[in-house]
Amino acid sequence: MKIGTPLSPSATRVMLLGAGELGKEVIIALQRLGVEVIAVDRYANAPGHQVAHRAHVINMADGNALRELILKERPHLVVPEIEAIATEMLVQIEQEGISEVIPTARAAQLTMNREGIRRLAAETLNLPVSPYRFAESLAALQAAIDGGIGYPCVVKPVMSSSGKGQSKVDGPEDVKAAWDYAASSGRVDTGKVIVEGFIDFDYEITQLTVRALGSSGQVETHFCEPIGHVQVRGDYVESWQPQPMSALALATSRDIAKRVTDNLGGRGIFGVELFVKGDQVWFSEVSPRPHDTGMVTMCTQAQNEFELHARAILGLPVDASLRAPGASAVIYGGVEAQGIAFEGVAEALAVPQSDIRLFGKPVAFERRRMGVALANGKDTHEARARAKRAANLVRPVKG
Ligand SMILES: Nc1ncnc2c1ncn2[C@@H]1O[C@H](COP(=O)(O)OP(=O)(O)OP(=O)(O)O)[C@@H](O)[C@H]1O
Ligand SMILES: [Mg+2]
Repeated sequence: MKIGTPLSPSATRVMLLGAGELGKEVIIALQRLGVEVIAVDRYANAPGHQVAHRAHVINMADGNALRELILKERPHLVVPEIEAIATEMLVQIEQEGISEVIPTARAAQLTMNREGIRRLAAETLNLPVSPYRFAESLAALQAAIDGGIGYPCVVKPVMSSSGKGQSKVDGPEDVKAAWDYAASSGRVDTGKVIVEGFIDFDYEITQLTVRALGSSGQVETHFCEPIGHVQVRGDYVESWQPQPMSALALATSRDIAKRVTDNLGGRGIFGVELFVKGDQVWFSEVSPRPHDTGMVTMCTQAQNEFELHARAILGLPVDASLRAPGASAVIYGGVEAQGIAFEGVAEALAVPQSDIRLFGKPVAFERRRMGVALANGKDTHEARARAKRAANLVRPVKG
């Protein structure tokens, strides 16, 4: 493995497809290793654009636009940060040997659609998952529920993320609203939903799993300590690490994570989402990239999830161990405006063992994630209280 000099013919070039807050941190990690980084997003001045060597604005769902840009930049590695990408073009790019897609083009393709990853997990790998059906009409959705899924259940567009278009259905009176909401909020309007039986879990975790080259030159699997989190309307608001688990639940979680990541292949970090009740574990979904709940690793691990990803994709060794218990809490926009300002940063940073990241997003919405507070403590209870306190002290105001 060798790394060249950025902006010279020997440069090691990496292109990030998606330059949000997660991509921004991956870019910073790559920059520290002397990699030349090209950041791509759908709008100008995205967080990752601000720290990359070059920034591009394209519609990444447009295969031809994507191909044109990749041919122009000739990155060695193409690293998807978001799901909404013309993944069939990534498959082609990989097959033609133009760039290596991280972790693999197939992983990006399978995970952008809930149907792809759910069928792989349940039907090929026989992993435990919630009961599920797919439906392409309101009548089919009702039939799936009546035919065995039952109430309560959860309806989601097959292509969506961050809880968009997702709703919990408690009884027959909720079904039409759930269908309408899912059909109108899907990323690409496939008109298809998944309906899942509601899992009454004790807690949910993200099992960050890294596939990286070991000293033998073979891919080895590394596990971070489990991350616990709280989701509100399908979007993460708080996470902490480590989440205490029974030995059996932890072993089962890692077994599931190993099986799914072995199948997806390639190198890089994966966020395996799991539901846990007692010793029982259900696979929910997987991101073949850093996970939002994993932002907590910026204060808990010697190598955070972004550094782990950067190292793994470059073929470098990783250390996924925990350094100290910690927590993260999201800082929301609170207002709808461009070029907002943040008050209370000094007060937030006066919270013991705290830190913040402000992502630099040009436009704020009420529920848009604009930053994150991080904190350590003697245990995750103390860390969570501190992270929440710090997040609440930051006040977004119209610039
Ligand atoms: N079958 C289920 N039973 C119980 N809770 C569920 C179920 N499916 C989803 N949830 C809850 O909703 C959250 C979001 O679901 P999911 O991860 O499928 O959506 P998403 O849009 O992909 O979200 P993200 O992109 O933030 O991961 C889960 O983390 C969990 O809290
Ligand atoms: Mg999820």
